[in-house]
Amino acid sequence: MKHEMITTKNLEITFGTKKILNDITFQVKENEIFGFLGPSGAGKTTTIKILTKQLKQTKGICEVNAKIKNIGILSDNSGAYERLTVYRNLCFFAELTQTNIKQVEKILKQVKLWEDKDKKVKDLSKGMKQRLLLACAVIHHPKLLFLDEPTAALDPATTEEIHKLLFELRKDGTTIFLTTHNMEEADKMCDRIAFLNKGKIVEIGKPDDLKLKYSNNNIKITFEDNTEIIVKKDNDSIINSLKDKSKKVLSIHSLEPNLAEIFLSLTGRDLK
Ligand SMILES: Nc1ncnc2c1ncn2[C@@H]1O[C@H](COP(=O)(O)OP(=O)(O)OP(=O)(O)O)[C@@H](O)[C@H]1O
Ligand SMILES: [Mg+2]
Repeated sequence: MKHEMITTKNLEITFGTKKILNDITFQVKENEIFGFLGPSGAGKTTTIKILTKQLKQTKGICEVNAKIKNIGILSDNSGAYERLTVYRNLCFFAELTQTNIKQVEKILKQVKLWEDKDKKVKDLSKGMKQRLLLACAVIHHPKLLFLDEPTAALDPATTEEIHKLLFELRKDGTTIFLTTHNMEEADKMCDRIAFLNKGKIVEIGKPDDLKLKYSNNNIKITFEDNTEIIVKKDNDSIINSLKDKSKKVLSIHSLEPNLAEIFLSLTGRDLK
């Protein structure tokens, strides 16, 4: 039985007179990759700040089942020492978290920065710097990792490398809470996701379950002559549409909505 790593119940935060998070309730299980999705200003970073005790909620319960030394954080305000080399930065983080120095080489190879280990941080590209910050966040092999938009503005190859590393961490037992605007990323990476809109969770579940739940039950049949028809996903409709034996079927696809379309249908808003 997997334990809950994070539990929040009716969480609220008010800044001045504005309620920024409202009635936030969710659980994250041990070893899960949990995605928190929402447009800019929805309250994603604020939620991470409460979960990592950088902010105190106004109301509600927030329980995180990991000691501070077993937590890793990558956020907007994560930084590295610009004038130090990549290698020295990681040595510093290793020392800070009482991690064996041997891990420095291992993690630098994992994030593909070993060849660049003697470069100063100020001379790194954006993607390299992001990989360094991720390496710093995970060098102590955290049980729980918070990632605030880990791949925002990165190129597809760097994004792919970061995704691979996250899957490896998960395989080794790390629980990951990540925020993103990127629906494909969420779909690929997350065991479960929550949609956040204007400080409220509007839906929560496994990506595939949500796609089924919001599917309009249509399938698309494409014939060899490239004509297409859309029919209801029931046997009678499908059989009827295939009665014309002279037309050969090329493909049959279910027309499931993607996560961005589900969010749009729930909120009337784009995720960007
Ligand atoms: N310390 C603060 N004081 C007042 N308002 C704040 C504070 N921190 C955040 N907010 C407000 O809370 C709302 C949510 O901000 P938050 O940074 O959590 O959004 P987000 O979902 O992370 O957005 P983005 O995708 O742009 O990073 C915004 O309206 C923001 O202005
Ligand atoms: Mg944010």
